[in-house]
Amino acid sequence: MDLTGRIALVTGAARGIGLATSELLAERGAAVARVDQDAAGLDGSTQARFHDIVADVTSSAEVAAAVGEVVSLHGRLDILVNNAGVAGRSLPTWELELEDWSSVLAINLTGTFLFIRAALVPMRAQGYGRIVNVASIAGKEGNPNAVPYSASKAGVIGLTKAVAKEVADLDLLVNCVTPAVITTPLLDQVSAAHLEYMLSKIPMRRAGDPVEVARLIAWLASDEASFTTGAVFDISGGRATY
Ligand SMILES: NC(=O)c1ccc[n+]([C@@H]2O[C@H](COP(=O)([O-])OP(=O)(O)OC[C@H]3O[C@@H](n4cnc5c(N)ncnc54)[C@H](O)[C@@H]3O)[C@@H](O)[C@H]2O)c1
Repeated sequence: MDLTGRIALVTGAARGIGLATSELLAERGAAVARVDQDAAGLDGSTQARFHDIVADVTSSAEVAAAVGEVVSLHGRLDILVNNAGVAGRSLPTWELELEDWSSVLAINLTGTFLFIRAALVPMRAQGYGRIVNVASIAGKEGNPNAVPYSASKAGVIGLTKAVAKEVADLDLLVNCVTPAVITTPLLDQVSAAHLEYMLSKIPMRRAGDPVEVARLIAWLASDEASFTTGAVFDISGGRATY
């Protein structure tokens, strides 16, 4: 999968799945803009191919500026990976504050919408694009004690399917991936009991590695993915077989 000459933007790229994806896309030849709100995390990079942008995915203005910066630097944007996300607190619905709901929805779902909306301007103009959204198995199955998270990721799946049909007449594919438990710092946000619940559901009896998700994203971000759009790609060690 050669991505030489492709211009990519990956959100939530300071660590975890976003970092692994940025590294793999760069390894395959893409110029990668990493977007994250964690300036210190981005500073740890030594990859010469990375162009780092500090931005909050919930800010419409910062999202527009990030896409504008990449387009003014490279003249185009070929690949968008909407990966930034948070788990939220592991609590039953009746113990949640409105803020638990609003903050998770804003980052996971509204952030994805804002980046897609901004990226579709250059992608539609150039008649080419690959958008990959990182949803979750929680969006397909619903995890108890993770209602805002599950709802936000179900939203990402619906958004993927709908927007894909709007641009399917162009060489502009929009797909999403639905990982189960992947070993990243995100797991520090969930309770031990919740982690145990999620791991117990995986027939392979292990968590995934970020690079395993990155490989699927990299394929969906390439020219080799050409006849699939609006699709949901499972990567859950056998938890979801549909
Ligand atoms: N780790 C898992 O088990 C798992 C499973 C399924 C889906 N996912 C999804 O994968 C994606 C990446 O998760 P991860 O496990 O690598 O998490 P992570 O916590 O390791 O990394 C998430 C990154 O997103 C950034 N971020 C958070 N809020 C942001 C904001 N408002 N603006 C900009 N950046 C922001 C963080 O700073 C961080 O660098 C998320 O969407 C997550 O929901 C993860």
